[in-house]
Amino acid sequence: MNSADLIYFQSQTMSALFLAKLMHLESGPILRHDFLDGEFKLQLPENLSSSVYIYYTLDHPSDKFLELLFAARTARHMGVQNLTLIAPYLSYMRQDAAFHPGEVISQRIIGDLLASLFDVVITVDPHLHRITKLEEAIPVEHALVVSAAPLLGQFAALKRANPLLIGPDSESIQWIEQAALANQLDYAVAKKIRHSDEKVEIKLPKTKVKDRHVVLLDDIASSGHTLASAVDLILRKGAKTVDVAVTHALINADTYDLLKLSGIENIWSTDSVIHSTNVVSILPDIARALMSLNKD
Ligand code: R5P
Repeated sequence: MNSADLIYFQSQTMSALFLAKLMHLESGPILRHDFLDGEFKLQLPENLSSSVYIYYTLDHPSDKFLELLFAARTARHMGVQNLTLIAPYLSYMRQDAAFHPGEVISQRIIGDLLASLFDVVITVDPHLHRITKLEEAIPVEHALVVSAAPLLGQFAALKRANPLLIGPDSESIQWIEQAALANQLDYAVAKKIRHSDEKVEIKLPKTKVKDRHVVLLDDIASSGHTLASAVDLILRKGAKTVDVAVTHALINADTYDLLKLSGIENIWSTDSVIHSTNVVSILPDIARALMSLNKD
């Protein structure tokens, strides 16, 4: 191949090819060979151009960061000058403080690693809690954030008449506000106390939910307990329907069942993580953000 501007791991071929098409880029796969002993070897496309994008959404990370380390370092050895990571979902952003001595602050370590490898990192609705800007977590030349909230708000408004958006915890205000303001929707934010991975206590806001179509909007559904706990309370207060809209569907079969059994009618998500609940694509927004960075 003569030039490979966007390279990708083969598990994510469809999304990468769609993005390459939107950005009018050449593309090529990073080949992976797995050895019997658990080690692996990568091979990048030949003849990379001087600016390269690596597409890799980082849910279920296991050895994804090691793959990125190998691929990014190899791209540099091959002469790549500008290296961009496109990671629609960026894992490890939630672990941003040590609550016990010796506890790992994963956000800082992953942020430093990515900053040592890339010139630009772009992601979607990273979970930033105690910091406000992505560059504080990833000290890189350009740390770009795209939000899926307006898109999810728009989708909710298409599907339900005059929906009421509710964020399940104080951190969700950053997404709820964007979704509501962009689509002129009512919104409110609940309070959450997390006792454990599986035990979550929600305190609903005072806003009336009776006879409303409520859409719970959040960045992530993982175990599903945050959303499931809120649904129960909202239905008991007389909401007509409750749907869920999340940017990143980190939803396994158990979570899906939990959410469905809680009374949620629909689960809507973006393709930042490929899942059967995907209803909107965030890739056009990512393409626009990267193309406008290149114009500056
Ligand atoms: C954390 O505050 C996030 O915004 C989500 O609310 C949380 O990650 C959801 O996790 P789970 O689905 O496991 O309750």
